[in-house]
Amino acid sequence: MADALIQATDVGRAYRQGSATVAAVVEATFQLQPKDRMALMGRSGSGKSTLLHLMAGLDRPDSGSLLWPALGAAESLLPAKIALVFQAPSLLEPLTVAENVALPLLMSGAVVDTDAAVTAALATFGLTHLADKLPETLSGGQMQCVAMARAIVGQPQLILADEPTGQLDRVTGQALLDALLQHLAGTETALVIATHDPAVAERMTMIWRMDHGRLLADGQREVVA
Ligand SMILES: Nc1ncnc2c1ncn2[C@@H]1O[C@H](COP(=O)(O)OP(=O)(O)OP(=O)(O)O)[C@@H](O)[C@H]1O
Ligand SMILES: [Mg+2]
Repeated sequence: MADALIQATDVGRAYRQGSATVAAVVEATFQLQPKDRMALMGRSGSGKSTLLHLMAGLDRPDSGSLLWPALGAAESLLPAKIALVFQAPSLLEPLTVAENVALPLLMSGAVVDTDAAVTAALATFGLTHLADKLPETLSGGQMQCVAMARAIVGQPQLILADEPTGQLDRVTGQALLDALLQHLAGTETALVIATHDPAVAERMTMIWRMDHGRLLADGQREVVA
Protein backbone atom coordinates (compact mmCIF):
# COMPACT_ATOMS: atom_id res chain seq x y z
CA MET A 1 0.00 0.00 0.00
CA ALA A 2 1.26 3.50 -0.79
CA ASP A 3 2.38 5.75 2.05
CA ALA A 4 -0.52 7.53 3.69
CA LEU A 5 -1.00 11.21 2.87
CA ILE A 6 -1.90 11.82 6.50
CA GLN A 7 -1.33 9.69 9.58
CA ALA A 8 -2.97 11.17 12.67
CA THR A 9 -2.80 9.64 16.13
CA ASP A 10 -4.66 11.15 19.09
CA VAL A 11 -4.43 14.63 17.61
CA GLY A 12 -5.81 17.37 19.84
CA ARG A 13 -6.21 21.12 19.42
CA ALA A 14 -7.66 23.44 22.04
CA TYR A 15 -8.29 27.19 21.87
CA ARG A 16 -8.30 29.64 24.73
CA GLN A 17 -11.44 31.78 24.83
CA GLY A 18 -10.95 34.22 27.70
CA SER A 19 -10.56 32.12 30.82
CA ALA A 20 -12.10 29.05 29.17
CA THR A 21 -10.47 26.41 27.02
CA VAL A 22 -12.39 25.04 24.03
CA ALA A 23 -11.38 21.58 22.87
CA ALA A 24 -11.87 21.99 19.11
CA VAL A 25 -10.35 18.63 18.10
CA VAL A 26 -10.09 15.76 20.58
CA GLU A 27 -7.93 12.64 20.13
CA ALA A 28 -8.44 12.38 16.38
CA THR A 29 -6.97 9.19 14.97
CA PHE A 30 -7.21 8.55 11.24
CA GLN A 31 -5.38 7.88 8.01
CA LEU A 32 -5.90 9.47 4.65
CA GLN A 33 -4.79 7.62 1.52
CA PRO A 34 -4.29 8.77 -2.06
CA LYS A 35 -7.58 8.86 -4.02
CA ASP A 36 -9.68 9.00 -0.85
CA ARG A 37 -12.93 10.98 -1.17
CA MET A 38 -13.94 12.06 2.29
CA ALA A 39 -16.84 14.13 3.54
CA LEU A 40 -16.45 15.70 6.97
CA MET A 41 -19.80 16.41 8.57
CA GLY A 42 -20.91 17.73 11.93
CA ARG A 43 -22.70 20.59 13.57
CA SER A 44 -21.36 24.13 13.61
CA GLY A 45 -18.48 24.34 16.04
CA SER A 46 -17.83 20.59 15.98
CA GLY A 47 -14.25 21.16 14.80
CA LYS A 48 -14.34 20.59 11.02
CA SER A 49 -12.43 23.74 10.04
CA THR A 50 -9.93 23.25 12.85
CA LEU A 51 -9.28 19.69 11.66
CA LEU A 52 -8.86 20.80 8.03
CA HIS A 53 -6.35 23.47 9.09
CA LEU A 54 -4.41 20.85 11.02
CA MET A 55 -4.48 18.50 8.02
CA ALA A 56 -3.08 21.30 5.85
CA GLY A 57 -0.20 21.97 8.25
CA LEU A 58 -1.53 25.49 8.66
CA ASP A 59 -2.12 24.92 12.36
CA ARG A 60 -0.25 22.61 14.72
CA PRO A 61 -1.78 20.17 17.20
CA ASP A 62 -1.34 20.67 20.94
CA SER A 63 -1.15 16.93 21.48
CA GLY A 64 -0.78 13.70 19.57
CA SER A 65 1.10 12.96 16.38
CA LEU A 66 0.28 14.32 12.94
CA LEU A 67 2.43 13.18 10.04
CA TRP A 68 2.31 13.35 6.25
CA PRO A 69 4.27 10.19 5.29
CA ALA A 70 3.85 10.65 1.53
CA LEU A 71 4.24 14.41 1.53
CA GLY A 72 6.89 15.50 4.01
CA ALA A 73 7.19 18.23 6.62
CA ALA A 74 4.29 20.44 7.73
CA GLU A 75 5.98 23.59 6.40
CA SER A 76 6.32 22.12 2.90
CA LEU A 77 2.66 21.26 2.26
CA LEU A 78 0.88 24.46 1.17
CA PRO A 79 0.25 25.33 -1.58
CA ALA A 80 2.03 22.83 -3.86
CA LYS A 81 1.23 19.49 -2.24
CA ILE A 82 -1.98 20.40 -0.42
CA ALA A 83 -4.56 22.94 -1.55
CA LEU A 84 -6.84 24.41 1.10
CA VAL A 85 -10.11 26.07 0.13
CA PHE A 86 -11.03 28.29 3.07
CA GLN A 87 -14.54 28.53 4.45
CA ALA A 88 -14.36 32.35 4.38
CA PRO A 89 -13.83 34.26 1.11
CA SER A 90 -10.11 34.23 0.41
CA LEU A 91 -9.52 35.82 -2.98
CA LEU A 92 -7.05 38.72 -2.95
CA GLU A 93 -9.04 41.84 -3.80
CA PRO A 94 -6.45 43.74 -5.91
CA LEU A 95 -5.85 40.76 -8.20
CA THR A 96 -8.00 39.59 -11.09
CA VAL A 97 -9.60 36.17 -11.05
CA ALA A 98 -6.85 34.79 -13.33
CA GLU A 99 -4.12 36.30 -11.13
CA ASN A 100 -5.74 34.82 -8.02
CA VAL A 101 -5.86 31.39 -9.65
CA ALA A 102 -2.18 31.70 -10.65
CA LEU A 103 -1.06 32.37 -7.06
CA PRO A 104 -0.31 28.77 -5.96
CA LEU A 105 1.88 28.30 -9.03
CA LEU A 106 3.78 31.53 -8.39
CA MET A 107 4.13 30.83 -4.64
CA SER A 108 5.47 27.32 -5.14
CA GLY A 109 7.71 28.24 -8.07
CA ALA A 110 6.14 25.51 -10.19
CA VAL A 111 7.85 25.05 -13.54
CA VAL A 112 4.76 25.09 -15.71
CA ASP A 113 3.13 27.30 -18.31
CA THR A 114 1.22 29.44 -15.82
CA ASP A 115 -1.16 30.99 -18.35
CA ALA A 116 -2.09 27.62 -19.82
CA ALA A 117 -2.61 26.07 -16.37
CA VAL A 118 -4.80 28.98 -15.24
CA THR A 119 -6.83 28.86 -18.44
CA ALA A 120 -7.41 25.13 -17.99
CA ALA A 121 -8.35 25.46 -14.31
CA LEU A 122 -10.88 28.20 -15.06
CA ALA A 123 -12.33 26.20 -17.96
CA THR A 124 -12.76 23.16 -15.71
CA PHE A 125 -15.36 25.08 -13.72
CA GLY A 126 -16.83 27.10 -16.61
CA LEU A 127 -15.24 30.31 -15.35
CA THR A 128 -13.35 31.44 -18.45
CA HIS A 129 -15.53 34.54 -18.83
CA LEU A 130 -14.54 35.76 -15.35
CA ALA A 131 -10.76 35.68 -15.93
CA ASP A 132 -10.20 39.45 -16.02
CA LYS A 133 -12.73 40.41 -13.35
CA LEU A 134 -11.86 41.64 -9.88
CA PRO A 135 -13.22 39.64 -6.92
CA GLU A 136 -15.40 42.54 -5.72
CA THR A 137 -17.48 42.20 -8.87
CA LEU A 138 -18.24 38.51 -8.29
CA SER A 139 -21.10 36.89 -6.41
CA GLY A 140 -20.27 34.86 -3.31
CA GLY A 141 -20.95 31.68 -5.26
CA GLN A 142 -18.67 32.72 -8.12
CA MET A 143 -15.91 33.45 -5.60
CA GLN A 144 -16.26 29.92 -4.24
CA CYS A 145 -15.94 28.47 -7.73
CA VAL A 146 -12.83 30.58 -8.40
CA ALA A 147 -11.34 29.39 -5.10
CA MET A 148 -11.87 25.82 -6.31
CA ALA A 149 -10.12 26.61 -9.61
CA ARG A 150 -7.22 27.97 -7.56
CA ALA A 151 -7.17 24.71 -5.57
CA ILE A 152 -6.73 22.48 -8.62
CA VAL A 153 -4.35 24.64 -10.67
CA GLY A 154 -1.17 23.23 -9.16
CA GLN A 155 -2.30 19.59 -9.28
CA PRO A 156 -1.90 19.06 -5.52
CA GLN A 157 -1.92 15.58 -3.99
CA LEU A 158 -4.63 16.54 -1.52
CA ILE A 159 -7.46 19.06 -1.72
CA LEU A 160 -9.08 20.17 1.54
CA ALA A 161 -12.26 22.14 0.87
CA ASP A 162 -14.12 23.82 3.71
CA GLU A 163 -17.81 24.08 2.80
CA PRO A 164 -16.97 24.85 -0.83
CA THR A 165 -20.63 24.86 -1.88
CA GLY A 166 -21.94 26.81 1.11
CA GLN A 167 -22.82 29.86 -1.01
CA LEU A 168 -24.11 27.92 -3.99
CA ASP A 169 -27.62 26.82 -4.84
CA ARG A 170 -28.11 23.06 -5.01
CA VAL A 171 -27.80 22.81 -8.81
CA THR A 172 -24.68 24.97 -9.02
CA GLY A 173 -23.14 23.16 -6.05
CA GLN A 174 -23.66 19.80 -7.73
CA ALA A 175 -22.22 21.16 -10.99
CA LEU A 176 -19.11 22.33 -9.13
CA LEU A 177 -18.77 18.90 -7.57
CA ASP A 178 -19.33 17.16 -10.92
CA ALA A 179 -16.56 19.23 -12.48
CA LEU A 180 -14.21 18.60 -9.57
CA LEU A 181 -14.79 14.85 -9.43
CA GLN A 182 -14.45 14.54 -13.20
CA HIS A 183 -11.21 16.50 -13.06
CA LEU A 184 -9.81 14.27 -10.31
CA ALA A 185 -10.92 10.98 -11.87
CA GLY A 186 -7.93 8.83 -12.69
CA THR A 187 -5.55 10.92 -10.58
CA GLU A 188 -4.01 10.04 -7.22
CA THR A 189 -5.33 13.24 -5.65
CA ALA A 190 -7.33 12.83 -2.44
CA LEU A 191 -10.23 15.09 -1.50
CA VAL A 192 -11.71 16.05 1.86
CA ILE A 193 -14.81 18.24 1.88
CA ALA A 194 -16.33 19.68 5.04
CA THR A 195 -20.01 20.15 4.37
CA HIS A 196 -23.42 20.55 5.97
CA ASP A 197 -25.10 19.36 2.78
CA PRO A 198 -25.96 15.63 2.67
CA ALA A 199 -26.25 15.83 -1.13
CA VAL A 200 -22.59 16.86 -1.28
CA ALA A 201 -21.49 14.29 1.29
CA GLU A 202 -23.10 11.41 -0.53
CA ARG A 203 -20.98 12.14 -3.61
CA MET A 204 -17.90 11.17 -1.60
CA THR A 205 -16.99 7.53 -0.89
CA MET A 206 -16.70 7.99 2.88
CA ILE A 207 -18.19 10.18 5.55
CA TRP A 208 -16.49 11.09 8.79
CA ARG A 209 -18.66 12.73 11.40
CA MET A 210 -17.47 15.13 14.08
CA ASP A 211 -19.19 15.82 17.38
CA HIS A 212 -17.75 18.25 19.92
CA GLY A 213 -14.27 17.82 18.47
CA ARG A 214 -14.39 14.05 18.30
CA LEU A 215 -14.17 12.15 15.06
CA LEU A 216 -16.82 9.51 15.55
CA ALA A 217 -15.58 5.93 15.37
CA ASP A 218 -12.08 7.40 15.53
CA GLY A 219 -11.94 8.03 11.81
CA GLN A 220 -13.02 4.57 10.81
CA ARG A 221 -14.46 4.46 7.38
CA GLU A 222 -18.16 4.69 6.94
CA VAL A 223 -18.58 3.54 3.37
CA VAL A 224 -21.33 5.21 1.41
CA ALA A 225 -23.40 2.60 -0.38
N1 LIG B 1 -9.27 30.98 16.32
C1 LIG B 1 -10.07 30.52 17.29
N2 LIG B 1 -9.99 30.99 18.55
C2 LIG B 1 -10.77 30.51 19.53
N3 LIG B 1 -11.69 29.53 19.35
C3 LIG B 1 -11.82 29.02 18.11
C4 LIG B 1 -11.03 29.49 17.02
N4 LIG B 1 -11.36 28.78 15.91
C5 LIG B 1 -12.34 27.92 16.28
N5 LIG B 1 -12.61 28.06 17.59
C6 LIG B 1 -13.57 27.25 18.39
O1 LIG B 1 -13.29 25.89 18.12
C7 LIG B 1 -14.49 25.15 17.95
C8 LIG B 1 -14.49 24.47 16.59
O2 LIG B 1 -14.58 25.47 15.59
P1 LIG B 1 -14.53 25.11 14.03
O3 LIG B 1 -14.44 26.40 13.30
O4 LIG B 1 -13.45 24.12 13.81
O5 LIG B 1 -15.94 24.41 13.81
P2 LIG B 1 -16.69 23.97 12.45
O6 LIG B 1 -17.13 22.55 12.65
O7 LIG B 1 -15.83 24.26 11.30
O8 LIG B 1 -17.97 24.89 12.45
P3 LIG B 1 -18.84 25.49 11.20
O9 LIG B 1 -19.69 24.35 10.68
O10 LIG B 1 -19.65 26.57 11.82
O11 LIG B 1 -17.87 26.01 10.18
C9 LIG B 1 -15.64 26.13 18.18
O12 LIG B 1 -16.05 26.02 19.52
C10 LIG B 1 -15.00 27.49 17.92
O13 LIG B 1 -15.62 28.48 18.72
MG1 LIG C 1 -16.02 25.51 9.71
